[in-house]
Amino acid sequence: MAIREILKMGDTRLLRQAEPVLDFNSQALLSGIADMKETMLAANGAGLAAPQIGWNVQVLIFGTGLVIPRYPDAAPVPQTVLINPQITPLGEEEQNDWEGCLSVPGLRAVVPRWQSIRYTGFDEFGNTIDRTADGFHAKVVQHECDHLMGILYPMRVRDFGKFGFNAVLFPELQPETDD
Ligand code: NI
Repeated sequence: MAIREILKMGDTRLLRQAEPVLDFNSQALLSGIADMKETMLAANGAGLAAPQIGWNVQVLIFGTGLVIPRYPDAAPVPQTVLINPQITPLGEEEQNDWEGCLSVPGLRAVVPRWQSIRYTGFDEFGNTIDRTADGFHAKVVQHECDHLMGILYPMRVRDFGKFGFNAVLFPELQPETDD
């Protein structure tokens, strides 16, 4: 296992379409996921997508199973490895909430997301995952899936009046701020 460098916005490797995983339970897959877990933990993240460490595959990790101090009202999100994900919105309702990203350090914006979704995919062993999620859980999954399509959250901001520096927006949360 190793802590990997997290690519920052401006790096064109964050703008690629990620390749689907064809081979489950392989050594390469498992060791890449172990690196992602260690990297996310070290960065205190809520989620991480493989392209953020320069690995261009459809692999996400998210959730700690714990309440995150900067999102005290959000129900804990189960610790999840999600591969080759598909998202279907359930209904038309949107949520507008603050997001940050480890690839966009120090900043935060209000981003529109679907309130409720169904998401499907596989774990690292090839077992099917099929869940419904709403609120914070749904937001995290949509944010991470966007990374697999080369989309960073600033590309989804509608109101640039709600885009700024953590240290200014949420001084009480310093220094624990990125996700
Ligand atoms: Ni991100």
